[in-house]
Amino acid sequence: MALANKTILITGANTGIGKATAQALAQLGGTDVSASPRIFIAARSIEKTRPVIDEIILASGNSKIEFLHLELDDLNSVAACAHTFGAMKLPLDILINNAGLARATGVTKQGFESTFGVNHLGHFLLTLLLKNALWAAPEARVVTVASAAHARCNGIVFDKLREPRSSLTGWPEYSVSKLANVLFSKELARRWDERVHTYAVHPGVIASDIWRMLPWPIRPLVTATMRSVEEGAHASVHCATSPAVAHQSGLYYGELGDEKRSSKLSCDEALAAQLWNKSLEWVSPWLADESTEKLRHHFRDT
Ligand SMILES: NC(=O)c1ccc[n+]([C@@H]2O[C@H](COP(=O)([O-])OP(=O)(O)OC[C@H]3O[C@@H](n4cnc5c(N)ncnc54)[C@H](OP(=O)(O)O)[C@@H]3O)[C@@H](O)[C@H]2O)c1
Repeated sequence: MALANKTILITGANTGIGKATAQALAQLGGTDVSASPRIFIAARSIEKTRPVIDEIILASGNSKIEFLHLELDDLNSVAACAHTFGAMKLPLDILINNAGLARATGVTKQGFESTFGVNHLGHFLLTLLLKNALWAAPEARVVTVASAAHARCNGIVFDKLREPRSSLTGWPEYSVSKLANVLFSKELARRWDERVHTYAVHPGVIASDIWRMLPWPIRPLVTATMRSVEEGAHASVHCATSPAVAHQSGLYYGELGDEKRSSKLSCDEALAAQLWNKSLEWVSPWLADESTEKLRHHFRDT
C-alpha cells in the first residue's frame, strides 16, 4: 500500500515495538515529504510521547506525527480518544492495535481483569468506535498485535474476566488476552468483510519494556538473546503496508510477516462470536453514547 497522504493510528507507540513501527511507517511516504503519512500515536502519557514524536520527526523528516490521549484501562478514555479522532473527519487507512501489557495485577476502571481489559477490551471498543473512519477509507487495514502465547490458552472462562487475576504469574491471563486478540481479528474480518482487512501478528520475542517486571540483573540477562524492537515491528509494518497481503483478511502472521497457522481454539468461530457478543455487551454503554451523539449531530445538521 502506498502510504502517501494516508492516515495511521497506532496505540502504545511511545516505546517498544509500537515506537519502532511508527518510526518505520513515518518514513514510507515516498520522496515527497509533504505527502508523508499522518500518524497518530495514541498513548497514555504526553510527557513520555512528546520526545518520541520529536525523535521520529527528526529521523524521518515527516512532521505529521501527533499525540492522542488514550488509557486503554478506562473505557471513558477510549471513547474520548475515538471521539477526538472522529471529530477530525479523517478516513483512517491503518489502525494498529499494538499497546499491551503482561503480568498486570488488579482490574481496569470498569472492573475487568487488567490484562484482558487493556489488551483486548479497550482495543475492541476503540476499533468499533473508529468504524466510520475505517469504513471511509478505501482499503482500510486493522493490524492487531497478538502473540504466539495465544496458543497456550485452552479456553476462556468469561466470569473470571471480571475479577483480578487469579494466577500467580499472570501468564495464563496474558495468554487469554492474546487469544482474544486473534479471535477478535478473525471475527472482525467476518463481520466487516469487504470494508476492512484484518491481520493478527506475533511480533517475535522482543527485548522491549514488556519485560519491565523482571528485576535487575535478570532483565538484561533474559532480554540479551531476544530480537530488537525494530525486528519486532516487521510483521506489523508488513501487514499494514504490503501489497502482498492486500487481499488477505482474518489471518495470523509470524515475526517475519509470513502467514502462520494460529491455534485450533483461535479458529473456533463459536468462541469468537461468544467473545464478540460478550465484549459488545460490556462496552455497550459507550457505543450507546456514540449513537446518541450521532443522533444529536443528525438533528443539529437537519
Ligand atoms: N515483547 C515481546 O516479546 C512480545 C511478544 C509477543 C507479543 N507482544 C505484544 O506486542 C505489543 C507491544 O508490546 P511491547 O513488547 O512493545 O511492550 P512495551 O515496550 O511494554 O510497550 C507497550 C505499550 O503499551 C502501552 N500500554 C500499556 N498499558 C496501557 C494502557 N493501559 N493504556 C494505554 N497504553 C498502554 C505502554 O504505554 P506506557 O509506556 O505508558 O506503559 C507502551 O506504549 C503488545 O501487545 C504485546 O503483548 C510483545
